[in-house]
Amino acid sequence: MRHLLSLSDLGRDGLIKLLDSADKYKKLRQSPEGSQPLVGKSIALVFEKASTRTRLSLEVAVVEMGGHPVVITSVGSQIARGEPIADTARVLSRMVHAIAFRTSGVERLTDMVKYSSVPVLNALTDQSHPMQLLADLQTVRAHFGRLDDLKYAWVGDGNNMATSWLEAAGLLGLTLILACPEGYEPPIEQVNQARALGAEVHVVRDPREAVRDAHVVSTDVFASMGQEAEHRDRLDAFNGFIVSRDLLTNAHSEHRVLHCLPAHRGEEIEAEVLDGPNSAVWDQAEARLHTSKAALAWALGFDA
Ligand code: CP
Ligand code: NVA
Repeated sequence: MRHLLSLSDLGRDGLIKLLDSADKYKKLRQSPEGSQPLVGKSIALVFEKASTRTRLSLEVAVVEMGGHPVVITSVGSQIARGEPIADTARVLSRMVHAIAFRTSGVERLTDMVKYSSVPVLNALTDQSHPMQLLADLQTVRAHFGRLDDLKYAWVGDGNNMATSWLEAAGLLGLTLILACPEGYEPPIEQVNQARALGAEVHVVRDPREAVRDAHVVSTDVFASMGQEAEHRDRLDAFNGFIVSRDLLTNAHSEHRVLHCLPAHRGEEIEAEVLDGPNSAVWDQAEARLHTSKAALAWALGFDA
């Protein structure tokens, strides 16, 4: 059975194939018939944390592929009353053909997989966000026509997005420079793993150093979901890490800025950057739809 828990579940070739499939789904959307491999199939979308894009893209993807999405949020289901994930997984597996799951700790995702008899897709945990990376990579390919021979910069927290970028860098042999304040770096094991796989990875303190000549500059919120109580302290720690027009004067002249969204204008990114000519964030958000379709097709064994 194919679970999509991390990008490494795809492998390098599988990742490229999935991006090709996402490009096909993007084109297919312009033809009225589309492709409906999910007719007669139901997909559970289980959210223990808030979501706009992930829910929207998966729900629309399932509908456009002819299937039926069932959205379950912890509020309003028995999850909030403490029903174990193991029991939820067993019941879902009796009725649906795949499960996308957004949760906090990776151990809850592992439980879902352990007790599920249908494919599970990781729709974000505190540790990773692989489905977002699929969209980010599709967007980079759309703007640059390639993924290699580019310099990638990450500015901000070494969070679930940063670790998924490390995973992508490892699989694809990318050059990735991360600027993070002390104490907010991604786990060293994941940095080393990306290096061992052939990525060129540097973790630096100065955002200007990370962004210098970079083609792709990515950032994310300073306080992720679940870290709201740390917000004030984090604002201090991340002082100087805003992706600003000034910072981007160091980047490659043809650079693109990515942000998985939601964004806090004026905090981790200037409004003029997010809404500016080098921002690819709306294409990136749209790519969630095409890549969600490709991910579902991969997990369920259909071709685009
Ligand atoms: N980028 C992303 O995953 O957005 P949502 O939290 O709105 O799903
Ligand atoms: N790092 C953010 C990503 C949101 C899509 C979070 O986990 O809240």
